[in-house]
Amino acid sequence: MVRTTRLYPRPKLTGTPRKTDGGIPLAGIYDYLEDKDGILTVDGVSSVELASRFGTPLYVYSARRIRDNYRRIHDAFAARRENFRANYAVKANNNLSVLDLLRQEGAGADCAGPGEIRMARSVGFPPDRILYSGNYNSDEELRYGLESGAVINLDDGPLLERLLKFGTPEALCFRINPGFGKGAYPGVVTAGPDAKFGMREREALKAYRRAKEAGIERLGVHMMAGSNVLETPYWAAITDRLTGIAARIAKALRIELDFIDLGGGFGVPSKIGETPLPIQDVAKKVVDAYERRLASTPGIGDPTLMIEPGRYLVSDAGILLASVTHVKTSAKRFVGCDAGMNTLLRPALYGAYHEILPATKLRARRSVRANVTGPICENTDMLGKDRRLPRLEVGDLLAVLNAGAYGYAMASRFNSRPMPAEVLVVDGEAHLVRERETLDDLVRGEPVPSAVA
Ligand code: LLP
Repeated sequence: MVRTTRLYPRPKLTGTPRKTDGGIPLAGIYDYLEDKDGILTVDGVSSVELASRFGTPLYVYSARRIRDNYRRIHDAFAARRENFRANYAVKANNNLSVLDLLRQEGAGADCAGPGEIRMARSVGFPPDRILYSGNYNSDEELRYGLESGAVINLDDGPLLERLLKFGTPEALCFRINPGFGKGAYPGVVTAGPDAKFGMREREALKAYRRAKEAGIERLGVHMMAGSNVLETPYWAAITDRLTGIAARIAKALRIELDFIDLGGGFGVPSKIGETPLPIQDVAKKVVDAYERRLASTPGIGDPTLMIEPGRYLVSDAGILLASVTHVKTSAKRFVGCDAGMNTLLRPALYGAYHEILPATKLRARRSVRANVTGPICENTDMLGKDRRLPRLEVGDLLAVLNAGAYGYAMASRFNSRPMPAEVLVVDGEAHLVRERETLDDLVRGEPVPSAVA
């Protein structure tokens, strides 16, 4: 008989039971991953089958988990404020099938540049549900954004003059640096004195004045102050700060605001057992702070409250499957696999922690400690350090968790390694949603002039 068990049985709780806000036990965060006789399954599909059908390294996403994530965060806000919208930050995972799924759920799209706008448009996001949040844009990019019909979010006042050369948009916002931000690692704090993003209040005031003079009808206010934040009080504080700035701008210029966008940044725990962001509580505190501000600012109108989560929607809905390629003992023990910093950059770039499961030996005793590494010629090529694992052999599979956000999207061809494939599991069926690159792809598009030969 096949035994199926939840991978993370409910942890023994001491003191007050910790629950996610939906009342789901904490262990339920990974409810699409199961242990079937020691083999990891993804929404019912065996990791061994996935690896043999599609090869490794392989990104695998659960459609069900993405939908659940969207509904949880959307509903938490929408239940408290009707005039609310969520845009998906495409940079987290730009797979077209993932975009399409989120569009079907009702999300808009936050795009970082023409490439993301093109991708979002290709799966049917209407232009007026796309926000183009660029920074250090070229004229061509500004023009592309304007012509695409996306709402443009400018990261600096003088960019407005450059945009106006191409036409006057109907709607526009400026990205504000609210003076502080927060992030899981220093590299993902995107506001405050060291941030390259956004404008201070005094520059913003000038920019909005100019936008008003130019006859732009719908004006919004935007910020994106940091990523992977798991603290509730921060959300209330940063909402209060941004809406304070927005209120002063609206009053000084006598303009009604069309929307106020708080950006993304909603965190996802990286370690099993960590408490997830209590999204109901966050939504309540944010909406309370937001509506308090509107109530005390006559003339500000009824701006739509907007958020643009990336990680929250897709991170824990994806795993990276890799095959063990070699096991080595020297001064340390190394488990080598076919996924490296080229496939998942976050550990090397930020020191980010990703859980790594022995996908084909879930029930084996974890008797060794090893560094999990890839095939890249860099010593930062470590997916995990000092991990407790069973004795693994060549051909065993590893599953790197929380790989759905900033995984494939930040992958590269470093060391001339082709890009991996992506699979979306929908209702227990695995669909290839991005083909693996081949070695031939690496030599395509590079004409070598005969002068070189
Ligand atoms: N909106 C804007 C304008 C952004 O720049 C970002 C992310 C988001 C929304 C979505 O943020 P999220 O909800 O995913 O935190 N590569 C890093 C994360 C950098 C985020 C940069 N901007 C990582 O792998 O952790």
